[in-house]
Amino acid sequence: MDSFKPRNILVTGGAGFIGSNFIRHLLSSNSDVVITNLDALTYAGSQLGLVSYADDERYEFVQGSITDSSLITTILSEKQIDTVVHFAAESHVDRSITGPEAFIDTNIVGTFRLLDAARTVWGDNLASRRFLHVSTDEVYGTLSATDPAFTETTPFAPNSPYAASKASSDMLVRSYFHTYSFPVITTNCSNNYGPFQFPEKLIPLMIVNALAGKPLPIYGDGQQVRDWLYVDDHCAAIWRAISTGELGSTYNVGGNNEMPNMDIVHSICDLLDELQPRHDAKSYREQIEFVEDRPGHDRRYAVNADRIANELRWTPSESFATGIRKTVEWYLSNESWLEAIKTGQHQNWIDQNYANRPMTAA
Ligand code: NAD
Ligand code: DAU
Repeated sequence: MDSFKPRNILVTGGAGFIGSNFIRHLLSSNSDVVITNLDALTYAGSQLGLVSYADDERYEFVQGSITDSSLITTILSEKQIDTVVHFAAESHVDRSITGPEAFIDTNIVGTFRLLDAARTVWGDNLASRRFLHVSTDEVYGTLSATDPAFTETTPFAPNSPYAASKASSDMLVRSYFHTYSFPVITTNCSNNYGPFQFPEKLIPLMIVNALAGKPLPIYGDGQQVRDWLYVDDHCAAIWRAISTGELGSTYNVGGNNEMPNMDIVHSICDLLDELQPRHDAKSYREQIEFVEDRPGHDRRYAVNADRIANELRWTPSESFATGIRKTVEWYLSNESWLEAIKTGQHQNWIDQNYANRPMTAA
């Protein structure tokens, strides 16, 4: 199998959950790459998790938006970028229901600007270039309990503004391959969990609320099913797709681990009962509360990841039991990160620690 070797990588959204895990994954396992992390530092972005690389010559942070064509063009040219790994997005379904516009701006317009800037800067020199687009299984819509899992040929049927914006970006990426032979690869992944996830998503929200003595809100009947993948496994899949994936292809990525939301929340409560019992010795399960359902809530996602397993030899290494234990333990031992993220104080902390470092490409 031919192997592509990235040298100068632009990671977009590298201050977010998966992007920052990807950068740590790469810098700790690969000494031959130089990474520029372009991130707008929205509410979901923080440099806290990458502070240990602040003085590493292989890493530079640039604060800015993927909608800024001139900034992207400057970075692509000046840093001689050969590989773009595109994570930057508005990522939370609930926020897309109450405020869809930012999802259109970043996920659709931003992806278009990024693609087009890279096409312009890279010109005809495409054999040694890669554009990896990180997408989601939500583009395929929802499944009944008996439907087969999503494959790469399942028709798109996005149901939330978030899913629709990601489906639109996937289609733009596809069109650049077919029209311009632009060297793209797309991964469509299921629900990630692990360290550094912003506490609005199900798993970190439940951990944080449980420890704070707050209710654990279950939407609807709690029987919605998601496929859960530990974030390091997703990072490894993305690297495998960049290195050995077929241009113009899409690869589903999943944990082969379908679980109803209720079971997820029960397993978190049980781990907390074991690792940090409540003062009254009751179970954290007592804090579970059923609340109004999410509008348009997709019932079930399930991912068939046979293609990436068979063609690229990627399978997850973490089971849910091991991954969720690591995750709960990580949140228990990183309360200062959590506190900074929850209160927005990470910005003050970063301003002090990054006072003399360039924050933009200019
Ligand atoms: P996240 O919300 O944790 O991080 C997103 C990052 O993008 C943040 O650091 C934010 O500051 C940055 N960003 C937002 N708008 C930007 C802009 N205009 N310009 C530059 N940066 C901007 O998201 P995540 O969970 O890490 O998801 C990363 C990617 O993976 C997204 O594209 C998402 O659709 C996809 N994905 C996520 C999951 C999941 O379970 N979290 C699963 C499959 C796919
Ligand atoms: O499937 C991949 C997608 O997974 C990614 O593309 C998205 O970026 C990511 O946010 C995630 O979307 P979900 O909507 O599945 O994740 P979320 O953590 O918001 O919710 C998971 C399930 O838990 C979902 O069925 C809604 C439910 N839920 C969520 C929250 C926050 C609750 O019951 N209560 C809650 O408080």
